[in-house]
Amino acid sequence: MNILEIKEIEAGYGARQVLFGIDLSIEKGQRVLLMGPNGSGKSTLLRVIIGILKPYRGTVYFDGKDISKLSAEKRVRMGISYLRQYKNIFPGLTVQENLILAGYYLDQQKLKEKIDWVLSIFPFLKDKLNGRAGLLSGGERQALAVSMVLMQDAELLLLDEPTAGLAPKAAEEILNSIKSAQEQLNNTILIVEHNLKLVSGWVTRVLGMVQGKIALDYTDIDMLIKNKGELEKLYFGAT
Ligand SMILES: Nc1ncnc2c1ncn2[C@@H]1O[C@H](COP(=O)(O)OP(=O)(O)OP(=O)(O)O)[C@@H](O)[C@H]1O
Ligand SMILES: [Mg+2]
Repeated sequence: MNILEIKEIEAGYGARQVLFGIDLSIEKGQRVLLMGPNGSGKSTLLRVIIGILKPYRGTVYFDGKDISKLSAEKRVRMGISYLRQYKNIFPGLTVQENLILAGYYLDQQKLKEKIDWVLSIFPFLKDKLNGRAGLLSGGERQALAVSMVLMQDAELLLLDEPTAGLAPKAAEEILNSIKSAQEQLNNTILIVEHNLKLVSGWVTRVLGMVQGKIALDYTDIDMLIKNKGELEKLYFGAT
């Protein structure tokens, strides 16, 4: 069963086309890594899936339903959550207020349960609940951003570089928490991450994007690691 199906997506910003004919199916429960050089269109693809960028053409199906015409808010309610690459918290609000905003559509009881649950995943945020989010360290900020996405109990999680800009230890901690949450929720993941090492052994599929096209699609990760030349070509070589 495919949780996500993308058909013939062409997208970009005004006259600047970024995605060229993307066709992609993701099965329920898959953990998919999306890699590719800077500017290749990874974030643009996630924006199309969550619905904050309207493609020039093409269709997006979630759980068998055509969601192409639905707003991002409706898509979130249907079970897709999205971690933005940038500006993914409200720095002027407290940590608790950020969490409440992320769960704005939950009832009081569910909201409390979800906050308790994300705090069990990121216990160090407990002491910071009443502090301003803007005062958190880089690692804590990303932990908050991931917590906000996890509040939504999504069937499909779109994570755009959750470890960007973090020191190796902090990056590993964030990923371990994401893995543990995924294990409990048993949901589907599409994650952008440049460091294959951090997620190998966990992701079940690797997609490589080059100049707005899916140039590589591996379900055998060991093969991919053995065949490093493919990856190097993806990052440094021509298409
Ligand atoms: N809001 C925008 N307006 C115009 N062009 C944009 C906009 N956002 C992105 N682009 C351009 O679209 C192309 C793809 O950008 P995108 O952010 O999808 O790349 P990416 O693969 O996520 O890169 P990175 O690894 O740096 O995050 C880039 O050339 C970028 O400059
Ligand atoms: Mg990006």
